[in-house]
Amino acid sequence: MKEGEKILLYGKREFLVEYRPGEEVHTHLGKIILKEGLEYGDLLRSSTGAEFVVLKPSLADLMKDVRRKTTIIYPKDAGVMLLEAGVESGSTVGEAGTGSGALTLLLSRIVGREGKVISFEARKEFIDLALENLRQSPFQNYEIIHRDVVKDGFGEFRFDALFIDLPEPWEAVSRAREAILPGGAWVSLSPNMEQMKKTALTLREEGFLRIRSFEILRREMVVRSFGVRPKEVMHSHTGYITVARRGK
Ligand SMILES: C[S@@+](CC[C@H](N)C(=O)[O-])C[C@H]1O[C@@H](n2cnc3c(N)ncnc32)[C@H](O)[C@@H]1O
Repeated sequence: MKEGEKILLYGKREFLVEYRPGEEVHTHLGKIILKEGLEYGDLLRSSTGAEFVVLKPSLADLMKDVRRKTTIIYPKDAGVMLLEAGVESGSTVGEAGTGSGALTLLLSRIVGREGKVISFEARKEFIDLALENLRQSPFQNYEIIHRDVVKDGFGEFRFDALFIDLPEPWEAVSRAREAILPGGAWVSLSPNMEQMKKTALTLREEGFLRIRSFEILRREMVVRSFGVRPKEVMHSHTGYITVARRGK
């Protein structure tokens, strides 16, 4: 593993930390030394004797770990958004707004070395934050552009898929129509039903096809020898997703 890469220390508690060979991680379960030449699967023992296995974090772990000054798109939603948009290695994708860069990080890792992520953000302070969070991508395949996309559009860029996480997504629909390639995908997420409705109706007015709105509910299970059931507490609401395709 490379220096600076995030690793997951999994034990009674989980800690997601940057790998710095020789450095100490201080936790309430004691001090853990990140030895030289650490490998996934290694067992580390803290100064109080607590055991931790070194694991590679999932993309969901990395997304949830970004330093945030905005709400972020959650992994349960982001996974389906990627599938619906048909994003794969080599895709060129757009995004507005960048916010904390949680989705940008995921997109960068999914489109890979041959792909491209162009993200637009109206507020400069969020760009700096997102760039810091994007250090967890192994690829230099992203660009963040300081721009209000409702006022100034997406310029000359053309996208296989465009992800919209703005307070008023419907205001970006006509701009998006110019920027999405024929057959390409619009994917937006909004916390409220009114936003979702206005977005879907505007997409229809602007001639988008295959418009669908839905939400994703994830119920964690308690699995044991007897009494398997859902956990009492659920992260029940994040937002409503709207997907659509551009025709000719
Ligand atoms: C909820 S945040 C996006 C979070 C991001 N999807 C993530 O996962 O970290 C919404 C962002 O949109 C930006 N924004 C709002 N209106 C905009 C516009 N017209 N053009 C570009 N960015 C805009 C805001 O400044 C904010 O950073």
